[in-house]
Amino acid sequence: MAQKIIIDTDPGQDDAIAILLALASPDELDVLAITAVAGNVPLALTEKNARIIRELAGKPNVPVYAGCDTPLVRPLVTAEHVHGKTGLDGPVWPEPVLPLAEGHAVDAIIDILRREDAGTVTLCALGPLTNLAQAFKTAPDIIERVEKIVLMGGAYFDVGNITPTAEFNIYVDPQAADIVFRSGIDIVVLPLDVTHKALVTAERNQAFRDLGTKVGRAVAEMTDFFERFDKEKYGSSGAPLHDPCVIAYLLAPDLFTGRFINVEIETVSELTMGMTVADWWGVTDRAPNATFIGDLDAQGFFDLLTERLSRYTDPSATTG
Ligand code: BDR
Ligand code: CA
Repeated sequence: MAQKIIIDTDPGQDDAIAILLALASPDELDVLAITAVAGNVPLALTEKNARIIRELAGKPNVPVYAGCDTPLVRPLVTAEHVHGKTGLDGPVWPEPVLPLAEGHAVDAIIDILRREDAGTVTLCALGPLTNLAQAFKTAPDIIERVEKIVLMGGAYFDVGNITPTAEFNIYVDPQAADIVFRSGIDIVVLPLDVTHKALVTAERNQAFRDLGTKVGRAVAEMTDFFERFDKEKYGSSGAPLHDPCVIAYLLAPDLFTGRFINVEIETVSELTMGMTVADWWGVTDRAPNATFIGDLDAQGFFDLLTERLSRYTDPSATTG
């Protein structure tokens, strides 16, 4: 039976590719909802971008909910310098036709977790953790009903991208991240340490383009745009596909290796705000609370992604 998931996201080109990967994998993943949160760009754009991608995938029945428009405590920080003004710069997108689902994303998360059997829904977090933390604050009874959380966020060896010591998703809402990491739920973390190895080389992007479909072209064009930032900053060979690592982990966990360790979030010091203090080397006696991924089979990851994207053919992608 397919694994039931909720995708919480702030699209973002890499979020978009993660959503496409999930929606192309119905045998393994049953996407119950996509919940948008403010992050890479403000909420009005992330919810719109989620709807654009749902329509590109031809999956009109997957509900998209709008969630929190600001972090729990701190003002919103966005990343147009990486993702462009719209968050989804690159292709020319049509306006989405289908509306948002009614209601707030936080309520949708709570309702779904109460409705489905306990321990059967996995939360996939691709952006700041505001919606998840707010749901846990509002309805603590759902915490024990979550099967696990698989999230993109944090770093140990790569330390930070938005500040010298913090990764973007955790930095934007450290208080939310703190609530999630202290929740007691099984957590799998895909940090920068691993996502920076999931690089779209020119050859890999050509493979997306060569699919010859709307989805293949859109993914290649998003990557063309998204890669300039990391190429300039790190001198890397292409764009890191951060968020698709979350979905790939669910589809093929054997592509990844990591350690079950203690991870805590810095919420006090402005200098290191949002740092994921990860006890990778086991130098404290703090109890492990997360599986922190450290490595992946990058070629295996791209083979999986390309094969799944090839499942979108233009007729089904437009009619669903
Ligand atoms: C994370 O931040 C965003 O820019 C990406 O979508 C990804 O979720 C990487 O730090
Ligand atoms: Ca994201």
